Amino acid sequence: MEKTLIILKPDAIQRRFVGKIISRFEEKGFQIVGMKMMLISESMARKHYASHEGKAFFEPLVKYTTSSPVVVIAVQGKNVIEMVRKMMGATFGSKAEPGTIRGDYAVSNRFNLIHGSDSPSSAEKEIDTFFTREELLDYQQIDFSWVYDVSEGDVV
Ligand code: RTP
Ligand code: MG
Repeated sequence: MEKTLIILKPDAIQRRFVGKIISRFEEKGFQIVGMKMMLISESMARKHYASHEGKAFFEPLVKYTTSSPVVVIAVQGKNVIEMVRKMMGATFGSKAEPGTIRGDYAVSNRFNLIHGSDSPSSAEKEIDTFFTREELLDYQQIDFSWVYDVSEGDVV
């Protein structure tokens, strides 16, 4: 099982999309293992988006990320990192396919509602940045054996 970090960005909260977006991940069959509302500090935003430092959009991105509260969510599932990225859609709202979160609800190339980790190593780092160990909950979700076929030992 993989875990990934999702951030419902300031525009998702301000535009009242929190419930709708979380529903998509619940309905897909992923397990929420950590969730909280918070204000991202400037230093956290700079660390989170460090790979974009120096790019023209970096300072506006830090400003956007810290401008209003966000909801951070740790989600677990088989291949969840790649699947969440697919469900988010392309980075720019203007380019994202209909049926994806950004494709359905965003038109802006910066205000694109959601972040998702892009690789196992960034997922691990990002979950560590936003959650303490105690905030990540290890529990059995009751429908697990109907979300996956586990009848032969593997998770299929
Ligand atoms: P994210 O990291 O937030 O999940 O988004 P992403 O991987 O799809 O896109 P990335 O290239 O990592 O860009 C990070 C965020 O920066 C903003 N952005 N603005 N040209 C621009 O003005 C521009 N380009 C990117 C977006 O909010 C993007 O999600
Ligand atoms: Mg990114």
